[in-house]
Amino acid sequence: MQYEVVLPAAGSGKRMGAGQNKLFLKLLEKPILIHTLEVFQQDPSCTGIWLAVKPEERSYIQEMLEQFKITKVRGLPDGGAERQHSVHSCMKGMQQVDIVLVHDAARPFITHDIIANLVQNAHEFGAAIAGVRAKDTMKKVRNGVIEETVDRDSLWMIQTPQAFQFDLIVEAEDVAEKVGFLGTDEAMLVERLGHTVHIVESNYENVKMTTQEDLIFGEAILRKRALQINE
Ligand code: CTP
Ligand code: MG
Repeated sequence: MQYEVVLPAAGSGKRMGAGQNKLFLKLLEKPILIHTLEVFQQDPSCTGIWLAVKPEERSYIQEMLEQFKITKVRGLPDGGAERQHSVHSCMKGMQQVDIVLVHDAARPFITHDIIANLVQNAHEFGAAIAGVRAKDTMKKVRNGVIEETVDRDSLWMIQTPQAFQFDLIVEAEDVAEKVGFLGTDEAMLVERLGHTVHIVESNYENVKMTTQEDLIFGEAILRKRALQINE
């Protein structure tokens, strides 16, 4: 089943502390942004890519797209001050499609099978998001003191991609914009409408490159995958 993907790429990467957009940092000689774009470039079910960018980074990114032969990008609108605004800016340019995926450009290790599972679930139920089970014991803390130990079985750590039927995400974003609601992910906007959101079990490799140590983990994943291909 076909889909189009929105990739917010207009952040500044403050927590990475690289003094530039972290998406331009390289993992094994290739920019993080290109690793992510290649997943969708190589997925036959992906019919279009929308990339939210900072205006001052647009021409540099366009050069990268040419160099790495990324041909599916349909639009590179200006990002906004918040991630949600960047996503919305892409959605505004999009024509009606069946399924829209929103995925952090900073998560280069997402796989085609998880994407397919998300798209299928969104087709069936309206909204489906990737997540993994919490591994550690989870406690609620207030003022430095444990308040309670939370039942871990019901806790999931949420990632992207998040997949939606087009009309549902458009409505959720419009309502959020109207009332000035800012969510930390797109699913929150859909949850606010009272709509069910399904979870698709992802894996722990789908990390977001956020701080310096994530880069070490990222290169290790790439090396492991290269070995698997050459086996
Ligand atoms: N993003 C965006 N527009 C923003 C903020 C973030 O398009 N105003 C994008 C980032 O480029 C990234 C994704 O959203 O691909 C996830 O955000 P995050 O990991 O928080 O990246 P940054 O905001 O760049 O990093 P930081 O929060 O450390 O500054
Ligand atoms: Mg951020």
